[in-house]
Amino acid sequence: MTIDPILELQHISKVYAGVPVLKDVSFACQRGQVHALVGENGAGKSTLMKIVAGAVQPNGGTITFKGETFSHLNTRLALDKGISIIYQELALIPHMTVAENIFLGREQRTSLGFTRQKLMMDEAAALLQRLGVQIDPRTPAGELTVARQQMVEIAKSLSRNADLIIMDEPSAILAGQELEQLFQIIETLTQAGVTIIYISHRLDEVFQIAKNVTVLKDGELVGTAPIEQLNRARLVEMMVGRSLDEVFPKSKHAIGDPVLVAENLSTQTLKQASFTLHAGEIVGVAGMVGSGRTELARAIFGADALQTGHITLKGVPFAPRGPQQAIENGVTLVPEDRKQQGLFTGLSIRHNITLPILKRLTRWGMVDRKAENDVIARAKSDLSINMASPELEAQFLSGGNQQKVVLAKWLQILPSVIILDEPTRGIDVGAKFEIYQLMRQLNEKGVAILMISSELVEVLGMSDRILVMQDGRIVGELAGEQVSEQAVITLATTHREGMSA
Ligand SMILES: Nc1ncnc2c1ncn2[C@@H]1O[C@H](COP(=O)(O)OP(=O)(O)OP(=O)(O)O)[C@@H](O)[C@H]1O
Ligand SMILES: [Mg+2]
Repeated sequence: MTIDPILELQHISKVYAGVPVLKDVSFACQRGQVHALVGENGAGKSTLMKIVAGAVQPNGGTITFKGETFSHLNTRLALDKGISIIYQELALIPHMTVAENIFLGREQRTSLGFTRQKLMMDEAAALLQRLGVQIDPRTPAGELTVARQQMVEIAKSLSRNADLIIMDEPSAILAGQELEQLFQIIETLTQAGVTIIYISHRLDEVFQIAKNVTVLKDGELVGTAPIEQLNRARLVEMMVGRSLDEVFPKSKHAIGDPVLVAENLSTQTLKQASFTLHAGEIVGVAGMVGSGRTELARAIFGADALQTGHITLKGVPFAPRGPQQAIENGVTLVPEDRKQQGLFTGLSIRHNITLPILKRLTRWGMVDRKAENDVIARAKSDLSINMASPELEAQFLSGGNQQKVVLAKWLQILPSVIILDEPTRGIDVGAKFEIYQLMRQLNEKGVAILMISSELVEVLGMSDRILVMQDGRIVGELAGEQVSEQAVITLATTHREGMSA
């Protein structure tokens, strides 16, 4: 159904060095709406948008923009027609002022007495004000945070009267409040009739702001649909090309004995939390931001002092005085920020995987190279870690592959309990699938997993049981038939008697 398409792509194809990266892609965007473009890494999203912006030439197909059809665009022409693109790597010139950046290459000239500087400053200030951001146009761009630089980029698009603004993963560099501000700006823009094409790997955002969504997979169009006809599960399915049962591998084995029993745990924020983890199961922890999920993990991990309660690990009292002791006793935490704590980014992949088991690999004081290589070979095939060489420093791996290396390490050590905090944040759907499989491999070897995740689809798909938290308490536990998106949301948000507001 086309109401008022501003942009129509017909049969676009692109070949790089003999390899087709876009195959016969067609879809339309409606005027004044946010249109999301999603797909796994390498699906062709950026390439397609560079074609629309005239930065890359297609090998076939046409672009119809505001009723005019083009077989090729160039950047100049695209800009003139009102198409603007904001790349992930922002392109402002750091030592020039915000205003100079906005009007770069189009400095105002006037025959009257006004200095063009003054005109530029005023106009830049007006544009920024229209976006509702407080940035002094005289500031050198390099002094702004990346979030603010992004806003300047948007102002720049506006100054060119763009009526289509393409944003390629704008949220990848933003957090919390900055993201809210971006969404507000997008709202302002669409109300003024501007169309936004929004590329993101974060599906929550897509559901929050997009009206329509187009999915690409391996250079081909999977489909375009109004967002209200989709749910997350269906969207993930479209992106990965697998049914959800396959995306979320179920455990193939019986759940074992209790491994960790927590009773009545309270810390500064946690209130009387009790639960049990069994060998070989995944227990998901759901709840809103601030509900106490991370605190629950920290309490078990020995990072926060307990005010009340106690823990037993395999029947023995467990009271770690800190993370180091927790790890020595077989309780591990894989933090959200892998770069900070999960991985030695300056060390090779080989060392990240084998360091913790070096003792096992050492004979007569020498590292047994063959044994070490076997471990690496196994990790590589087990995990399909896409690595040029195990000698590569871990920092050069993509986020998904870094997480796989972290899990590979624990697969060698086999702790009793692994706490995963947001295990797949920032990771594309294909790599997610592999991480899920790794989690199940850990389960099969008897490891109990406590998984904290803000992605409800993941919690629902992977957990054998779900603990729902609110205001520092575990307010419910769901398993089997009881598990549903609605049940989790209801538990997480319903106000409970006796709870502080
Ligand atoms: N200049 C280029 N030369 C050769 N191949 C390229 C070039 N640019 C992109 N490709 C290839 O085209 C395919 C699509 O890449 P593209 O960057 O469009 O994907 P994407 O969907 O934006 O991925 P991501 O989510 O990782 O940003 C990839 O296989 C990529 O390696
Ligand atoms: Mg891209």
